[in-house]
Formats: sequence, C-alpha cells, structure tokens
Amino acid sequence: MKRVSANVVRSDFNDLLAVMHYTRAAHKLGLWASERILIERFFPDKGARLLEAGCGAGRVSVALWELGYRHLHAFDFAEELLVQAESLALERQAGITLFPADATALGQCHVIRDTVFDGALFMFNGLMQIPLRRNRRRALRGLAAKCRPGGTLLFTTHDRDSSPAEQAMWRLEALRWARGAQDTRLREFGDRYFSEEGTGRTFMHLPDREEILADLAATGWTHTYDAMRRDIAQESRAVREFSDDCRFWVAQRA
Ligand SMILES: C[S@@+](CC[C@H](N)C(=O)[O-])C[C@H]1O[C@@H](n2cnc3c(N)ncnc32)[C@H](O)[C@@H]1O
Repeated sequence: MKRVSANVVRSDFNDLLAVMHYTRAAHKLGLWASERILIERFFPDKGARLLEAGCGAGRVSVALWELGYRHLHAFDFAEELLVQAESLALERQAGITLFPADATALGQCHVIRDTVFDGALFMFNGLMQIPLRRNRRRALRGLAAKCRPGGTLLFTTHDRDSSPAEQAMWRLEALRWARGAQDTRLREFGDRYFSEEGTGRTFMHLPDREEILADLAATGWTHTYDAMRRDIAQESRAVREFSDDCRFWVAQRA
C-alpha cells in the first residue's frame, strides 16, 4: 500500500469533505476558549506581525483579525482550503495576507521573503500532519528563520501519554511495529492514518512530550510552556465535537 506523503496529505485536505468540515468551523466555531486564552497571554501586542501556518479555511486568522490583530499573514498548502479562507476574509473584511506555501519549504516563499515576524502559530495539530520527523523539523526551522529572536511560536499536538487508555493503545502499537505488522502506509512509530465520518482521511503523527522538546531544541526554539487543553479551559460541546483534547506548546525563538 502507498505510504503517506505530503501529496497524500494535501489531497486529503483538498477533498470536498475536509473542505466542508474546516470551512464550517471557520464560519461558525471560531477560536476555542483555550486558543483564545493562550493567544491573549502569549501575543498581548495587537500590533505584532504574526504568521499563521496551515491556516486552512481561515478559522484562526479571521478570528485573530476580529480580536484586533492587524498584521496577519497566513498560508496553507491545500489550495481548496485557501480559497475558502480568502472568501471568509473578504466576507468579514479581514485584511489578512493569505498565500499558498508549504511549511517545509518556507525559505522558497517569496511572499514573506522580506518580512520578519514577531510570532508564528501552527494550530489544531497542523505541524503533526507533516509526514516524517525530519520534515516537521524542517517546518520548525523554517518558522524560526522567519521570526525575530524572542519571537513566539504557538502550536498544538496530540500526546501519546495523555491518558492510561492512550498509553495502553500505544504499547500495543509498539508491539505491532516490533513485529513489522504495522499499517504499511505509516512512516514512523506514532503515526496514524484514519477516516472519520464527516472529515475524510486524516494523517496525524502523535508524539510524546520528549519528542517535541527535542525537536524544539534542535530547530532554534526555546520551550517556554506546554499544557493539555483540558487544563487550560472547559471547551464547549461544539469544540469538543470538532476536536479531541491536545497539548498546547509555546516556544521562543532562541
Ligand atoms: C487540522 S487542519 C487545521 C486548519 C486550521 N488551522 C484550523 O484550525 O481550522 C491542518 C492544516 O494544516 C495544513 N498543512 C498540513 N501540512 C502542511 C504543510 N506542509 N504546509 C502548509 N500547510 C499544511 C493543512 O492543509 C490543513 O489546512
């Protein structure tokens, strides 16, 4: 079976089902309570130049505009989602610079060639939807290169150790990998590739905490904060239906 690649992930996000799912969330859901708390805490300056990676249909960027942030750039590599973000930004009169780009090749992106950002965001696990750790590190390095020293990075991941049930599930998966009996589409231990009704196919790498700490240290970021979403805010039912619990990460450009 074909292994999951960036092209597979992009075409899954361009699929009509996924586009409808993320567009609906951008129009109706907006920011999660936890996102809003951390954005206001770690990006207190509304004049900050912010870069959103993996903006999808514009859920976070448009909400940032509505919170008063005025220097926003946002990109995604799924063209169909970006069209939806452009349409929502137009509808809400949000002056966001939206552009297509691959987070693993930011150095080649001429739109932001001459811009230095005060911070970057990669929300709702987008970073973990990049297959292969070396590519996720490339994305982290690329974002560091676009931010000033001291600039802030906010992103989320799942966490393989977040509950006893997850830990038991991953112990079984480790046995599968040891026997070579894992899903042959997966690239690395921690990967999942699954289908959900209403969302379509999703690739996701689930790290443990040590993995992310090492990746940040290796890519020009200093870890400053992390916490599970459940410990930050009580989310509405609509948010919980849209998204599972996750770990929020904040780092500062070294
Ligand atoms: C789970 S969606 C989240 C979308 C949006 N941020 C939100 O919260 O509604 C993850 C997004 O990351 C984007 N993405 C994944 N890998 C990417 C890459 N290498 N470069 C740019 N965007 C990427 C996907 O296309 C998708 O829009």
